[in-house]
Amino acid sequence: MRVLVIGSGGREHVLAWKLSTSKKVTEIYVAPGNPGTAELATNVPIEVTDLAGLIGFAKSKKIDLTLVGPEAPLVAGIVDAFSEEGLKIFGPVQKAARLEGSKVFAKNLMKKYRIPTADFQVFSQAEQAITYIKEQGTPLVIKAEGLAAGKGVIVAQSVPAACQAVRAFLIEQVFGKAGQRIIIEEYLPGEEVTVMAFVDGKTIIPLLPSQDHKAAYEGDRGPNTGGMGAYAPAPLLTKELREEIAAKILFPTVQALREEGIKYQGVLYCGLMISNGQARVLEYNVRFGDPEAQVVLPLLKTDIIEIIEAIRTEKLAEVPVEWLDQKALCVVLAAEGYPVKYQTGEIIRGIPEASARKGIRVFQAGTACPGKELLTAGGRVLTITALANDFNLAQANVYQAVRQISFKGVRYRKDIGWRIFKSGLNSVSKNKKESGLAWPR
Ligand code: AMP
Ligand code: GLY
Repeated sequence: MRVLVIGSGGREHVLAWKLSTSKKVTEIYVAPGNPGTAELATNVPIEVTDLAGLIGFAKSKKIDLTLVGPEAPLVAGIVDAFSEEGLKIFGPVQKAARLEGSKVFAKNLMKKYRIPTADFQVFSQAEQAITYIKEQGTPLVIKAEGLAAGKGVIVAQSVPAACQAVRAFLIEQVFGKAGQRIIIEEYLPGEEVTVMAFVDGKTIIPLLPSQDHKAAYEGDRGPNTGGMGAYAPAPLLTKELREEIAAKILFPTVQALREEGIKYQGVLYCGLMISNGQARVLEYNVRFGDPEAQVVLPLLKTDIIEIIEAIRTEKLAEVPVEWLDQKALCVVLAAEGYPVKYQTGEIIRGIPEASARKGIRVFQAGTACPGKELLTAGGRVLTITALANDFNLAQANVYQAVRQISFKGVRYRKDIGWRIFKSGLNSVSKNKKESGLAWPR
């Protein structure tokens, strides 16, 4: 089977790796990919939103299946476009991708079908939004409606900060059309988790729960980023809570879409806030999370092609999705200044040494290799993932690997996993000597 992966981040690198472990896959292409994916696959220089270019390539190479990493092509309708050409592709159709493409659509759907989420109001006029903020007081959360690369959400602790966000979105239009409508939302305290699910339109199978670290700095402080590190399975989610999330959130979401005449097929990502043992939806994404994919996919035992084929034929209920009984923890290495302004073009050293550690794999994201040296080429540069018998071992091993890698201005959070250790939810493995576990092949 010839498979095309669309995207160029750490998520697409781990997808290419997972595909490389499938007996069914003979060739892997990644568009546009990065120097890391080039080690497992053939990179194709086509941008993720060049739908015509991607279709032309898929036809010319007789691609049997396409997997889409990022949201932009899904929201732009890549699944519809491929399907119209008779090409097999995995992911939600454009109408379903509105769950991520329009936060107003998502919030209205949750309200209509009573899916637990924060109370909210929609605004397109700054004056009305500001009057509302002054009435409500803070904290409040201000969100741009459309795609803003993870930067369209401001958690405002003061009225001036909330008003400033409103002005930036609605008057200065820093996100252009994506910010022409905003949501002002109740602030939810609690702990965030990510629950993704495989969905074939009627059956849902949740993946292992994970926790990302979205804030730029230690202690979950500073601006929001795309994600600075993650781990799975998140011990916070007990079996009961996982079942409740499936019954009250995942399944009702897919059912709500069906009632609206929309069949959801693909991966459904729910960003959840857990407070007092109750889960509420912060956001939906219509794809794998990044960096959540870099900790969840390594733990997936089942061949991903088997799962995708079952989703496409609406036979997901027949597939036993199995997981390794291990822990995965990853740290993102970012460029200095990320998520605001950052340098690129710095030489990266140490990946071979770090990768030689047992239990460690390095996934590339913002990298480029124009000559002999591997250079930084984006905000999030690398994700380093460790597999181990417990989170202490995984964390110790991952940070030793992190310290073997260097580039000018490298920045990473030094506390990935802190909630597990603070809450005492880490059960320590009896097998202490095994610092890292071999990766599946
Ligand atoms: P979103 O893209 O909607 O998930 O928002 C990005 C981040 O903002 C989330 O991961 C949370 O950390 C934070 N956030 C969003 N909505 C809320 C809320 N209602 N209450 C508290 N924090 C929130
Ligand atoms: N890590 C959050 C996301 O993928 O949107």
